[in-house]
Amino acid sequence: MDRRLLYEGKSKSIYEGDNDSTYVMEFRNSATAGNGAKKAELEGKGELNASISAVIYDYLAKNGIETHLIKMIDATHALVKKTEIVPVEVIIRNTAAGSFSQKYGVSEGTPLKNTVVEFSLKSDELGDPMINETQITAIGLAGKEEIDEMVRQALTINGLLRALFDRSGIILVDFKLEFGRYEGRIILADEITPDSCRLWDKQTGKKLDKDRFRRDLGDVMGAYTEVFTRLTDEK
Ligand code: TMP
Repeated sequence: MDRRLLYEGKSKSIYEGDNDSTYVMEFRNSATAGNGAKKAELEGKGELNASISAVIYDYLAKNGIETHLIKMIDATHALVKKTEIVPVEVIIRNTAAGSFSQKYGVSEGTPLKNTVVEFSLKSDELGDPMINETQITAIGLAGKEEIDEMVRQALTINGLLRALFDRSGIILVDFKLEFGRYEGRIILADEITPDSCRLWDKQTGKKLDKDRFRRDLGDVMGAYTEVFTRLTDEK
């Protein structure tokens, strides 16, 4: 790709786009966990994640959610709207797992009585610390109305994704979203993939997400392939 590289993240790269209002986002095979402490190259991950994210973003767009995705250029490159990323990750949880289970002593798999919404400061340097609404507005990372809009969209997306995955026999345990500012609006950016979600098989509880990499459970790409196959079989 002979485009100018603008930013290299842990598993994606951003290149200049076709004009001033677009970027090209590349999904790479790199996998990291523990804020970069564990690293690997997983053959085929870039292509699988690009495909899974595209299927999900198309589904969300059809259901009224504006996303940054314009179109896929090839198997690992997406043309996207150039947004100014809000430096706050929005995490939605339906079932206790991961850092929530650890932090609050709630066994993994415990259903939550209501949907949990969390925010993390997007900062590799600081290890993405949890941050609350008053802290976000106090530092000026986002305004109150922007936070409300991100939460509103995240909850709508949760409902849509739970239904989509449920039809594929998958439980959406939790996931992380990023939003960007675009022409005065807040729109969904980044990716939705098994890297950014916890996905469990409804029948067996088998983990079909990045926890297979984080926890050395093996067959990471087999699980990602399974997610893609089930999502596309459903359509
Ligand atoms: P956590 O349980 O580690 O806080 O993760 C919650 C969800 O958010 C899980 O689906 C993984 C996702 N996530 C990311 O995509 N990127 C991150 O940097 C973190 C911390 C979590």
